Amino acid sequence: MARIRVFRIRENEKKVSAAFEDMDHQDLDKGEVLVRVAYSGINYKDALAATGTGRIIRKFPCVGGIDLSGTVVESGDTRFKPGDAVIATSYDIGVAHDGGYAEMARLPADWVVPLPQELSLLDAMALGTAGYTAALGVVRMELNGLKPENGTAIVTGATGGVGSIAIDLLSGRGYRVAALTGKASEETYLKELGATEIIDRKSVDLSKIRPLEKPRWAGAIDNLGGEYLSWLASSMQMSGTIASIGLTAGMDFKSTVAPFILRGVCLLGIDSGFTPMPLRREVWHRLATDLRPRHLGQMTRIIAFDELPGAFAAFIEGKVRGRTVVKVGG
Ligand SMILES: NC(=O)c1ccc[n+]([C@@H]2O[C@H](COP(=O)([O-])OP(=O)(O)OC[C@H]3O[C@@H](n4cnc5c(N)ncnc54)[C@H](OP(=O)(O)O)[C@@H]3O)[C@@H](O)[C@H]2O)c1
Repeated sequence: MARIRVFRIRENEKKVSAAFEDMDHQDLDKGEVLVRVAYSGINYKDALAATGTGRIIRKFPCVGGIDLSGTVVESGDTRFKPGDAVIATSYDIGVAHDGGYAEMARLPADWVVPLPQELSLLDAMALGTAGYTAALGVVRMELNGLKPENGTAIVTGATGGVGSIAIDLLSGRGYRVAALTGKASEETYLKELGATEIIDRKSVDLSKIRPLEKPRWAGAIDNLGGEYLSWLASSMQMSGTIASIGLTAGMDFKSTVAPFILRGVCLLGIDSGFTPMPLRREVWHRLATDLRPRHLGQMTRIIAFDELPGAFAAFIEGKVRGRTVVKVGG
């Protein structure tokens, strides 16, 4: 039995709080694979969970951290053996099953992905759920016919984790990319990632969105939801494809059927949480090879495990840029 340091989220009288604690690794949630965690990361969902801003934890107490990379210590499943480098993201991790903000994690073998040989444990968490989701969005959009020659692809929430990686992926594949951002001051950063057009979020008039606006976008990776998704739906070109990924601006959106039946617009729902394992492995393989972002180092900062509690507020306030990796064991 080993005592391990974890960052655990608790609820008391409907109030959520999170803090470092020590626990026995045997008290972690059950699973066949015990992993020594090297790195985790921070996604918007982690910030919602740790601050209680979004009531997304389904089991209290819960060790936070929806992502982790590390090395297998023990395995009761023949697919993994001690010493294997692995990645685990999504499923119930960090919201209903003890997650990656811990020196060790115990996981069902069905949730564990072997680390592609082209990636380091650090690369895997620089990508994390954000990279996986951006890549899943691009893969699904291209399966639906999106090609660089169709026109411009827009990425909303551009400076965030999913947004930064999506811009890098799309521009690396030859797309002309527009970046919609609330941070006009990050124009240089967004252009370095490959965006060719920067649109200030404040310049979008959400007060009167018509069923069909001027057609502008062949593809859209949407991290905002809410009225921005309504605006995107109305602004797509013929046969345009939207990947609906996030909700930082809101859960609800209004639209009419006009974009769908008069322009053949396709709205794809992207759920990184429960992608079937064959597709999950394929997307990770592509992230490590032909979809590998070219500017991962540039968009990633690494923080120490100790710095975790102070890092969440910036995500809730929409102030972050790029990806944040948490060095747990390192
Ligand atoms: N569907 C899935 O499986 C899946 C997987 C991963 C993430 N997500 C969701 O995708 C979204 C992005 O995730 P992330 O990890 O990239 O988050 P993130 O790193 O926190 O980035 C979110 C970005 O959205 C913009 N933003 C923040 N607050 C906003 C507001 N109130 N109104 C409008 N824009 C705002 C900001 O970019 P700018 O300042 O540049 O505009 C911010 O940097 C989140 O909603 C997350 O829950 C979904």
